[in-house]
Amino acid sequence: MSTPSTATSNSPAASASGEPVILTRGLAKTYEGAEPVHALRPLDLQIDRGEFVAVMGVSGSGKSTLMNLLGCLDTPTTGSYHLDGVEVADLTRNQRADLRSQKLGFVFQGFNLLARTTAVDNVLLPLLYDRTGRIKKPRDRAVEALTRVGLEHRLDHVPSELSGGQQQRVAIARALVNEPAVLLADEPTGNLDTRTTVEVMALFQDLNDAGITILVVTHEPEVSEYCRRVVELRDGRLIRDETVEDRRDARRDLATDTPLIPLPE
Ligand SMILES: Nc1ncnc2c1ncn2[C@@H]1O[C@H](COP(=O)(O)OP(=O)(O)OP(=O)(O)O)[C@@H](O)[C@H]1O
Ligand SMILES: [Mg+2]
Repeated sequence: MSTPSTATSNSPAASASGEPVILTRGLAKTYEGAEPVHALRPLDLQIDRGEFVAVMGVSGSGKSTLMNLLGCLDTPTTGSYHLDGVEVADLTRNQRADLRSQKLGFVFQGFNLLARTTAVDNVLLPLLYDRTGRIKKPRDRAVEALTRVGLEHRLDHVPSELSGGQQQRVAIARALVNEPAVLLADEPTGNLDTRTTVEVMALFQDLNDAGITILVVTHEPEVSEYCRRVVELRDGRLIRDETVEDRRDARRDLATDTPLIPLPE
């Protein structure tokens, strides 16, 4: 059950601080070509520290385009974007890369782990790109991150020795190791079965309860029920922005074995 709000207003979650970590004004992306594609129409979006937002929409609606802009992986055609108070448009390519490594953690559908590399070394990777030197004792930090996702007993396993859910938890640990301001996840449960999906959502809920801001792109309405707010795109426009009421508690669903989607006989 959700309460509709107007598409232009913001609906900070109960635990959010009211301090914008993501703030866009007229942010838009057009892919030029023989036929220009308006992948994202001018968008005003505010996401506050501590929010947990699902980004929904049919294929081609602009979700990845938006995530790539918010993730500083791509530059907008027009508009402004403040990430944790920094105007991204004013930055050089290298400064954008630094901002990305300091402020953002990424989780992808396909895990994107290095195949011949142990869990702990996969998690260490982002620290190798951190040029600020703010992370002391990187290996300890990697072990801490893996402990946080419940994989302290799998530090030296390579991805092929881990289940899909465990591989995604390694990827989440890798996204967390820099202590990012925001965790951006594009279809993180797209390759996982139902129970493993709920396990990953339980982890996200724990992390969000600990104060981490999370944005997750998903096709699955069930996944959005674990988030605090849902925004939906269609044809590059924001068509829905709602607070999730009575949101589901993933730990409770796991304990009671509540089926998310009825299983085939
Ligand atoms: N590099 C590109 N060049 C031209 N058009 C693009 C490019 N990337 C995406 N598009 C177009 O922009 C629109 C939005 O694409 P986007 O990848 O953001 O959709 P999406 O919502 O993430 O879809 P999906 O659910 O399939 O991942 C689509 O019409 C797509 O064809
Ligand atoms: Mg996409």
